[in-house]
Amino acid sequence: MGQLGRSLSVRASEHPSHELILSDITGDCLHLDITSRDEIRSLVVSEGIQAIVNCAAYTNVEGAEDNAALCNMLNADAVAILAGIMKETGGLMVQISSDYVFGNDSHNVPIGEDSPLSPLGVYGSSKAQAEQILKSSGAKYVILRTAWLYSEYGKNFVRTMLRLTSEKPSLQVVFDQVGTPTYAGDLADAIFRVLDSPVPGLFNFSDEGVCSWYDFTKAIAEYSGNTACDVRPCHSSEFPSKVVRPAYSVLDKSLFKSTYGISLPHWTESLKKCLKNLEYGHSETEIIL
Ligand SMILES: NC(=O)c1ccc[n+]([C@@H]2O[C@H](COP(=O)([O-])OP(=O)(O)OC[C@H]3O[C@@H](n4cnc5c(N)ncnc54)[C@H](OP(=O)(O)O)[C@@H]3O)[C@@H](O)[C@H]2O)c1
Repeated sequence: MGQLGRSLSVRASEHPSHELILSDITGDCLHLDITSRDEIRSLVVSEGIQAIVNCAAYTNVEGAEDNAALCNMLNADAVAILAGIMKETGGLMVQISSDYVFGNDSHNVPIGEDSPLSPLGVYGSSKAQAEQILKSSGAKYVILRTAWLYSEYGKNFVRTMLRLTSEKPSLQVVFDQVGTPTYAGDLADAIFRVLDSPVPGLFNFSDEGVCSWYDFTKAIAEYSGNTACDVRPCHSSEFPSKVVRPAYSVLDKSLFKSTYGISLPHWTESLKKCLKNLEYGHSETEIIL
């Protein structure tokens, strides 16, 4: 299961009014492929499923440049399949989108929901396509567009930087790309809020605050005690990549907060919580929600 799926699953017991059926493609829960229309439709009908929360995706942004067909199938075609089933059965489709739907633009203030989409690569284009597919599907939907997702699980920036700052005497990290780190646990809480009383639409979602990847790494190193590593800022041009990443991907969350009546934690607070869970070895029973 991916990091958002796992974050939802550990919170499920806090939300007993929602009965979750967890699925995965390779894990040890119910095996479901999001591209298998018949299998999913039959489960939705037999179990009377009222909402699909689609946490599955092709998320390897660089890999997508060489695997466009697979990326588009998982990130766009599968969304059309799931939305079609929800339209037919009258259920709610919750889709997770990405700040990568932007990038080929010159934003310098937090980006609103209605800003024109301008993806730079295959991954961003597939996520933008999914937004458009869902909007025109006729299904009831909530799209949560998020950014810089991390958690206690899987492969993510926080876990990578924890390792690197503990192993290396120095590290260069880009300071010319800014955004807002988002703890998957906070997004999972937001998804339960949506499921409690859904207001359809597209909403930006991230934690509060703004930082560069360099600032984020400095905080990871400081909070985890890996202060022996000299973390230095550098330009993204020093790390050639197949993908041009958005230079400014700060999302404006005002609409989500006012619609759902919630406040969001500052990214530093959530980072500390995640690091604490990692320090404890984060067995699922001792995780700090
Ligand atoms: N990570 C970020 O920084 C970020 C930022 C913005 C938005 N998002 C979006 O947030 C959502 C959750 O991301 P995440 O970081 O939790 O992703 P993740 O950890 O990479 O998890 C994605 C999951 O999708 C599963 N999957 C792949 N193909 C599948 C299929 N055919 N059927 C069923 N499951 C399949 C993968 O299974 P295997 O592991 O077995 O392949 C994996 O468990 C995605 O929509 C992503 O685009 C992520």
